[in-house]
Amino acid sequence: MYSLRTWASILVCVTALVVATDPFKVGIMSKDPEFVANYGRVEPWKGPSALPSDPLNRLQQARILRTPDFGGPESLAFDGQGRGPYTGVADGRIMRWNGPDIGWTYFAHTSPNWTDTCIPKNPSAPNFEREHICGRPLGLRFNKTSGDLYIADAYFGIMVVSVDGGLARSLTVEAENQRFTFTNDLDIDADGSIYFTDTSSKYSRRQFVLTAFAWDDSGRLLRYNTITKETTVLKQGLVAPNGVSLSKDGSFLVFAEGIAARLMRYWLKGPNAGQMELFAASPGHPDNVRRNQKGDFWVAMHCKRSRFIMQTSPYPWIRSVLARLPIPLSSIYSLMLGARPHAMVARFSESGELLQVLEDSEGKVVKTVSEAEERDGVLWISSAIFPQLALFSLEKL
Ligand SMILES: *[C@@H]1O[C@H](CO)[C@@H](O)[C@H](O)[C@H]1NC(C)=O
Ligand SMILES: *[C@@H]1O[C@H](CO)[C@@H](O)[C@H](O)[C@H]1NC(C)=O
Repeated sequence: MYSLRTWASILVCVTALVVATDPFKVGIMSKDPEFVANYGRVEPWKGPSALPSDPLNRLQQARILRTPDFGGPESLAFDGQGRGPYTGVADGRIMRWNGPDIGWTYFAHTSPNWTDTCIPKNPSAPNFEREHICGRPLGLRFNKTSGDLYIADAYFGIMVVSVDGGLARSLTVEAENQRFTFTNDLDIDADGSIYFTDTSSKYSRRQFVLTAFAWDDSGRLLRYNTITKETTVLKQGLVAPNGVSLSKDGSFLVFAEGIAARLMRYWLKGPNAGQMELFAASPGHPDNVRRNQKGDFWVAMHCKRSRFIMQTSPYPWIRSVLARLPIPLSSIYSLMLGARPHAMVARFSESGELLQVLEDSEGKVVKTVSEAEERDGVLWISSAIFPQLALFSLEKL
């Protein structure tokens, strides 16, 4: 990889060659003049040796369940009767899988303005122009007793829909006079609390690449009390927090800070209640976190630890220069991903020990992963981007 000096000379040359004002308005700064790159620190990997990997690329054995009618099934949840999974998709709907004979059926939606024009002509294309109107349901969790489905919609905040489905009802959209900008994931506690993340107070989901590239630190961890209807800020100043999951005994929660390649633990009960600490460094850039019945956490990785992210994070000036150049955001995203998808999911114990890594390092079968949900010996793997789910049999291991 390039050294810092090489980077510097490349940048100086490129800057000299290209008119630094980005005349064709394709770069980040020309679209977001307020863009500020912050210093960032990827959590150092302190494992025994190199990053753990899966040389057998076992995720390539997964069975693909294509979703030709919609893209980006981000989060997965099964209801109290074992039906599902349900998943929130790019066009704003929440769909339910009814097995191979019936396939997918509509269950619910989050935007009062949803119409079938929300469904793009090419369902596998992103829906960035319309998702703030159509809704973008991300994290999903069932109250398995009441049958209510709780939804973190990226644009409409925390919502709930009853077993009958249809239009979801809003529960909360702001805390401390700050509206949520990018509600991402949630988990529910037996006592009626909903813990959730707002990835950024600056960038919406349509700009998720910027949140990471800027090391935007306006993310928050919050709680909504379903009984008092109060919303409380538990932590602010977080860098792009996304997936969140309670521990089996409910004494703490784990949330992901994707760009920093780490999982944080926030204590809810006991002597450390209200305190936050590192739970584990992660071998990739984590997204959703889901607990299995045993109490382990399956962590979906957007991609494996990226050299580009590692190398550019401590140098905001490099990212500021890149943002001034006529480099489209899609190319920045591709650099951050490491030029091609690299699927990875990892299982951590309740004490933060890395137990297992599964990969498709070539992105041949499974590509970027947004959630891994264990159910009856099968890992259901979703993707916020691609029109497919992957089913991996844990019995093969
Ligand atoms: C729905 O559309 C109406 C009319 O265009 C608009 O005023 C309203 O803000 C929209 N609601 C949402 C939640 O986007
Ligand atoms: C789930 O539903 C049950 C029964 O209606 C209720 O007692 C409980 O508080 C609910 N939990 C949450 C988190 O809303």
